[in-house]
Amino acid sequence: MSAKSIIMKRVFLLTMSLAVLIFTLVNLVACGTKEQEGVYNINFSAESPNPKQGKSVLIISASPRRGGNTDTLCDEFMRGAQEAGAKVEKISLEDYKIEFFREIDTYMQPDSVAKATARDDAHIVINKMLRADVIVLASPVYYYNIDGQMKTLIDRTYYAFMQMKDKEFFYITACADTENASSDGVVEGFRGFVRCLPNPTERGMVKALGMGRKDGVKNSVYMQQAYELGKGV
Ligand SMILES: Cc1cc2nc3c(=O)[nH]c(=O)nc-3n(C[C@H](O)[C@H](O)[C@H](O)COP(=O)(O)O)c2cc1C
Repeated sequence: MSAKSIIMKRVFLLTMSLAVLIFTLVNLVACGTKEQEGVYNINFSAESPNPKQGKSVLIISASPRRGGNTDTLCDEFMRGAQEAGAKVEKISLEDYKIEFFREIDTYMQPDSVAKATARDDAHIVINKMLRADVIVLASPVYYYNIDGQMKTLIDRTYYAFMQMKDKEFFYITACADTENASSDGVVEGFRGFVRCLPNPTERGMVKALGMGRKDGVKNSVYMQQAYELGKGV
């Protein structure tokens, strides 16, 4: 190989390396959230993409502990959202009989769906989800993940999840650990569902840490966080 072609090759390699470096830096600096969007197929925005006034908000509290940490944060979110003029409904999954997903739930013909939905209350909650503009998913951390009540509901949305279009989501969770990463599994659990829906937007979350006691969240900073998120609905 001649000296000229060796130099040309080196210049080419150097140029390519610089281009890759610049591309990586620009992406890292400019769009942390874009990176997330690519991974999740979720729009991430603290602002609502929906200019509608008086949005309908559904808060789904999956904790079996009424008046516990998750539930109390849901109440604070509700207070904020009501003050902001939203139509808010908060439900506790404790009040609904929701069975595990079964094989019959995979058949999507209308008569099968009717049969499958008749056996319990899942469709009542799912209809509320379909009607809501904004959905708050709230679950305590159970073994680094969402609790069974929330997961069972999510599985049962199978016949309707493709109709859950353009929804906005907030997440609420509480755990005993003080490590921020301890509730990541819950966020992943919520996102695993949300990313499957058409055009969802994730608006924000409250991760209450160090909540080993039932009323631990009262007088904590998380109350204000939940209230503010609700206010900005
Ligand atoms: C079955 C079960 C599993 C739990 N797993 C975890 C866990 O993995 N990490 C953690 O930090 N806390 C864990 N906790 C503690 C709860 O997340 C914590 O007490 C939370 O505040 C409960 O929320 P609640 O008051 O809304 O029910 C667990 C509690 C229960 C009952």
